[in-house]
Amino acid sequence: MRRGSVIQLTALGLVAGAVGTAVAVLIPWLPVAAGKEAHRIHFVYWFATVIAIVVVSVVFAVLAYSIWKFRAGPDDEEDGPPIHGHTTLEIVWTAIPAVLVTAISIVSAVVLAQNGHAGPDPLLIQVKAQQFAWNFTYPNGKSFGYLEVPKDRSMKLDITSTDVIHSFWVPQLSQKQDAVPGQHNTIVVTPTRIGTYPIICTELCGLGHAIMRSHINVVSQADYAAWVKQGGAAGPPGLAVFQREGCGSCHTFTPAGSTGKVGPDLDDLKAEALRANRGPLASFVHESIVEPSAYLEPGYPDAMPHIFGQQLTAAELDQLVQYLVQGAKK
Ligand code: CUA
Repeated sequence: MRRGSVIQLTALGLVAGAVGTAVAVLIPWLPVAAGKEAHRIHFVYWFATVIAIVVVSVVFAVLAYSIWKFRAGPDDEEDGPPIHGHTTLEIVWTAIPAVLVTAISIVSAVVLAQNGHAGPDPLLIQVKAQQFAWNFTYPNGKSFGYLEVPKDRSMKLDITSTDVIHSFWVPQLSQKQDAVPGQHNTIVVTPTRIGTYPIICTELCGLGHAIMRSHINVVSQADYAAWVKQGGAAGPPGLAVFQREGCGSCHTFTPAGSTGKVGPDLDDLKAEALRANRGPLASFVHESIVEPSAYLEPGYPDAMPHIFGQQLTAAELDQLVQYLVQGAKK
């Protein structure tokens, strides 16, 4: 091979590598890594990406060089020269990918094993998914519709579902796990960055899938201790029920700060009660929770789960009804 060809091939490879590197580095493909496991998973991504850029650069250089140097002339209708196998070349192009793929497998397996390890004292949280809300139960038995967790402590999430298959995902924490009825799947998450991140359902689970969201607050150890001490939730008891049952993922209700659009707007409960003509506001709200199909607001399907009559105690139901009645604007 001539020295000039080597230089040209190398130059083409470097250009391809530079473009590939720029695309990989300059575009923020990944969310910020907010947990130990996320940092490890990002490492695997970058490890595989660097290998991919090198391979693509070599392939691109050879391809571009061949198109450039070996193209047929305009009137050239000859067959190309008969070329047979080249044993050394075949061994090389089999061995190098085998080594690279094995390396990626080993790095992935090590990260997978490390990410499944919860350490000595994880915070155990039961996660229950249902159409279309998340419910998180802490070791002290209290449940919330969102997660509040301390920084730098591992937590082990025990994830299940009461109806169909959902999937738990916090992009910034990378870990993802299916919520399957009758099954308990676990993941370990160790947040290392204070902030609020979205909890997203990533399994198509029905009408409200797209809005089946909650959030995780990662706070300092001291703030977490204070949150646990003051009972975990502020505000009226009805708000705690509203949040725990995930009402806000389907319903807009200004006092709770929710903006769900799947079900009727609860700010307009008074107008809806008038249209429904099914007795006083409180009994209409009560009926709509325990027997959602008794009256359907025009334009809305019978999408609300018929489970809250069994799921809520009489006291919780009263708190929720009172909270909604007091907060309704028109
Ligand atoms: Cu739950 Cu999608």
